[in-house]
Amino acid sequence: MRVLIFGASGAIGRAFVQSYEQDHDVIAVSRTVHDDTTSPAQWRRADMLNSDDMTALAQSIKEQGTVDRIIVASGILHGEGLRPEKALRDLDVAAFERVLAVNTYAPAMVMKHFLPLLPRDKAGVFAALSARVGSISDNHLGGWYAYRASKAALNMMIKTAAIEVARKHPLAAVVGLHPGTVDSTLSRPFQGHVPEGKLFHPDHSVAQMRDVIESRTADHTGRCFAYDGTEIAP
Ligand SMILES: NC(=O)c1ccc[n+]([C@@H]2O[C@H](COP(=O)([O-])OP(=O)(O)OC[C@H]3O[C@@H](n4cnc5c(N)ncnc54)[C@H](OP(=O)(O)O)[C@@H]3O)[C@@H](O)[C@H]2O)c1
Repeated sequence: MRVLIFGASGAIGRAFVQSYEQDHDVIAVSRTVHDDTTSPAQWRRADMLNSDDMTALAQSIKEQGTVDRIIVASGILHGEGLRPEKALRDLDVAAFERVLAVNTYAPAMVMKHFLPLLPRDKAGVFAALSARVGSISDNHLGGWYAYRASKAALNMMIKTAAIEVARKHPLAAVVGLHPGTVDSTLSRPFQGHVPEGKLFHPDHSVAQMRDVIESRTADHTGRCFAYDGTEIAP
């Protein structure tokens, strides 16, 4: 299989690369250059929000044939000048825009350029890292406005793209994934309240998500699943 992984420099993205590169051809994409010469994956540099980068990458990958698995593991929750909001008074247009760009627009651009490269005659899977907090019906705590909204919008992109993809790729599954709470730069400031045994190593989460990906069929398309295979309600 050919497996294409975006956000490959992140904790979850890297663990996906290390899992799939053992038994498949992996193309690992990130904005930062990778220096691990032991990795058998093909490492490519591209910014998902740069149209020229994405067009060039799609063209060169298309020349090598179809892609069986597309995984988008990029995302942002906090950073310089960016903190998840506790209340409406914390909302800031520039910060909101940054979160939407990375969590919603970037995976949407991967859909635009790479969903057409899924095989038509056999099952292919597109999986984007979403989050349980993107579920509208599961929101009991409030807060984290931009992050929640960006993931809810990503889930809508997944549902809508799944409908379009099914017309030409009837065997494909386009899904969202919730990884659990995973030890990474993204989760580090918020790990204090995680119950004992519920903070996963990226390898542990990815091993489970890989099982979920490999068991998805067209029956699952348009939906979002947690690392243990349970569906996350919209
Ligand atoms: N960790 C958790 O507990 C948890 C829980 C629920 C959902 N998730 C989701 O899982 C995904 C991966 O998270 P992680 O924990 O692995 O985080 P991470 O280690 O911080 O990795 C984030 C990745 O996103 C990429 N990224 C950040 N800003 C970007 C930008 N402006 N443009 C393009 N790429 C950008 C980074 O790549 P560059 O090298 O290119 O910057 C990096 O590869 C995210 O979508 C997150 O929302 C994580």
